[in-house]
Amino acid sequence: MADTVGSTLADAAHALAAAGFDEPRRRARRLVAAALGLSATEVFVHPERAVGERDAERVAALLRRVLAHEPLSRVLGVREFWGLEFSLSPDTLDPRPETETVVEAVLARLPERGRGYRILDLGTGSGCLLLALLSELPAAYGVGVDRAPGAAAAARDNAAALGLHGQAGLMCGDWAAAVGVRFDVVVANPPYIATETIAQLSPEVREFDPHLALDGGADGLEAYRAIAGALPRLLAPGGIFAAELGAGQGEAAAGILAGHGVVVEGFVDDLAAIPRCIIARMRAA
Ligand SMILES: C[S@@+](CC[C@H](N)C(=O)[O-])C[C@H]1O[C@@H](n2cnc3c(N)ncnc32)[C@H](O)[C@@H]1O
Repeated sequence: MADTVGSTLADAAHALAAAGFDEPRRRARRLVAAALGLSATEVFVHPERAVGERDAERVAALLRRVLAHEPLSRVLGVREFWGLEFSLSPDTLDPRPETETVVEAVLARLPERGRGYRILDLGTGSGCLLLALLSELPAAYGVGVDRAPGAAAAARDNAAALGLHGQAGLMCGDWAAAVGVRFDVVVANPPYIATETIAQLSPEVREFDPHLALDGGADGLEAYRAIAGALPRLLAPGGIFAAELGAGQGEAAAGILAGHGVVVEGFVDDLAAIPRCIIARMRAA
């Protein structure tokens, strides 16, 4: 009997469940939809649709990659963040939902959505932090910097695809070394994994997220030190610094920032109640 969308979906979900993946049906639906060029809804409402040999091969190829622990977002090349779709490249971190905590924390501190805030995103990756903020602040302008040329290029493509290229400049550089102006907001999700613990991360992270996006040096805090040292010349008086933290890094990160003339305001928890974002402010003039 010929394959149908319904039987293809059931087989993929079964293979994922048997291999121990959580939410096998949801994953299978996204995978089958992408392989067949359908929306997830079309997959759901047309289970009787025939699946030809070529399409079945495409589903099987994507399924093999997921079963080999390549994250579904990498396989599909896209990830949703802040309700926006971001294309990924091998040079970009796969944006994580907890990073939305940084976006929320910043927006909660910007009183006027229509103001022309200037925003700097250090280690922009796919551009998710900067572009999520710009999508909420139509008069704002932002600069995103990444040391990986492929990440800066991906962020530029994402800005264009989201219609935000007029508000964003994306460039390659070593943190803020080439940045010579001040900003109202500086955000960062720096690499914060201690070098020697990278080997213990799950294969999905260790093998598919770029090393440059993970490695925070011997104690995981090298990038915070580099960024904190530049804040006095980057932040406007009263300007906000918001950065993602690894679990348990709050106190150490606060100590680093306090040594550079910014006032630590506190932490914002993610949905798992882990302090995920540190907020600091440059003293008003
Ligand atoms: C944890 S990832 C965050 C990416 C993105 N902001 C996000 O939240 O998904 C850290 C990013 O910092 C970049 N990076 C590492 N070292 C850097 C440096 N010295 N200067 C600029 N960017 C750097 C990496 O390439 C990576 O894109």
